[in-house]
Amino acid sequence: MSRQRVAAITGSASGIGAATRARLEAEGWRVIGVDLTGQEVDADLSTPEGRAQACAEVIEASDGRLDGLVPGAGVGPTEPKGSIVAANFFGAMAVLDGLFDTLRQGEQPAAVLICSNSISLIPVKDPTLLDLMLAGHEAAAVAASDGFDGSTIYALTKSALARAARSRAQAWGEAGVRLNLVAPGPVRTPLLQATRDDPELGPYVDLLPIPRGHEAEPSEIAGPVVFLLGPDAANIHGSLLFADGGTDALLRPDHV
Ligand code: NAI
Repeated sequence: MSRQRVAAITGSASGIGAATRARLEAEGWRVIGVDLTGQEVDADLSTPEGRAQACAEVIEASDGRLDGLVPGAGVGPTEPKGSIVAANFFGAMAVLDGLFDTLRQGEQPAAVLICSNSISLIPVKDPTLLDLMLAGHEAAAVAASDGFDGSTIYALTKSALARAARSRAQAWGEAGVRLNLVAPGPVRTPLLQATRDDPELGPYVDLLPIPRGHEAEPSEIAGPVVFLLGPDAANIHGSLLFADGGTDALLRPDHV
């Protein structure tokens, strides 16, 4: 009998992470969930201590061998500015890099980060915050985030994630670990609901043009994530897959 495949998912208590967990478990994977509370590993990924604890506990729970990783935990543009930077970029990257050696021990291992099509909607005009994130200067990035609005910070954390992931293509490819990103548009989760309930941002949510005509269910993002973790994606590495109902294509038809 072949060994059961093992994945770790952060943000597994809700939304896209919970849907990905359900989908993987239905396909026979064992999932180690990480979230603020109620999962196999409870940790706050917005702090260095929480990230270190999460990685240590995942390594222990997986016996040092992971086949899949989805660092999906994140917060939306309505949350405190510094927490968007800390959770969405530094939290995700710390888990990604902290579990790289554990993934290397896996079988056809792969990781998938959750980006966002907000990187299409909000182009990088001022690179200060993006550069600080990519340079790994968390305290300075958190301080600099004060000069940006929440939506811009959110989009910049996702741009930084995409760039950081793609810059790892050679090293991760050589190590036999595939790394890709999925970029959703609006997905019906508590994060989107919080944005919709926000007096400033709420009115804009439904103005976003979506060629396919409607917001995604979390399961419609879990599908591409699971595909990218699996054997049918064996030659897909360093890619950013838009799963946004066509919005990126509509807004940036020449961006290929
Ligand atoms: P959600 O709010 O349903 O789930 C996010 C999960 O992350 C929650 O369970 C939350 O507790 C956890 N989390 C947040 N901060 C954390 C921290 N510091 N430590 C540990 N866990 C933490 O949100 P959703 O929509 O499922 O978001 C998942 C990912 O998808 C996020 O990275 C988000 O940016 C991204 N995304 C969501 C979109 C949407 O429209 N819902 C669109 C594009 C990307």
